[in-house]
Amino acid sequence: MAASLDGFIARKDGRVDWLETSDEFVGGATMEPGFVEAFLKTIDCYVMGSRTYETALRFAEQGFGWSYGDKPTFVLTSRELPRIRDTVELCSGDLAQFVNGRLRPTFRSIWFVGGGVVSGECLRLGLADELRYSVLPIVIGDGIPFFEKLGRDVALHLAEVTAYKSGMVELRYEVRR
Ligand SMILES: NC(=O)c1ccc[n+]([C@@H]2O[C@H](COP(=O)([O-])OP(=O)(O)OC[C@H]3O[C@@H](n4cnc5c(N)ncnc54)[C@H](OP(=O)(O)O)[C@@H]3O)[C@@H](O)[C@H]2O)c1
Repeated sequence: MAASLDGFIARKDGRVDWLETSDEFVGGATMEPGFVEAFLKTIDCYVMGSRTYETALRFAEQGFGWSYGDKPTFVLTSRELPRIRDTVELCSGDLAQFVNGRLRPTFRSIWFVGGGVVSGECLRLGLADELRYSVLPIVIGDGIPFFEKLGRDVALHLAEVTAYKSGMVELRYEVRR
């Protein structure tokens, strides 16, 4: 996910208006559309929390489209939410059993979209192999944290750092076992 420097992925009310920043880092890399497109092709399915899905539904209603293409998208929820597409499946129950028993045998690259509750659960349960954390050049003071209720330390290995022209720094970590 993308976060403010103080570790928030959204304001308390869910707004992500601060994601658009106007910084410029001279000498930073440019995010090439071709690269993003090729990277998205490597993702086999998406998993997201219901609040992140509700944000995606709102974006779609406002005419910004659906970011997850035709890839299977699993929404974790205990509620009956509208399914925006046939590729969306609502899921509940034991997350570790769902990921290891149902998703891993079918999908190689499973992308956890977020939000903070799901990323916290994912790390706490030892389900993540890799973590991508993009730091934006802004401090917002309060909001929804990147990792909710983690409850333990998780050691990481820094595998890649890319600083972009926009001032965003993308960190890729591998989860150490
Ligand atoms: N900055 C970024 O890159 C980024 C990325 C993603 C999201 N976001 C933002 O993050 C915010 C949402 O984050 P969040 O932490 O509040 O919520 P979230 O992680 O998106 O969703 C949490 C909800 O998902 C359901 N859930 C989670 N684990 C479950 C499980 N194992 N089984 C069944 N249901 C489960 C529960 O809701 P139910 O009541 O439905 O059961 C839970 O309250 C949104 O504002 C979104 O826009 C930002």
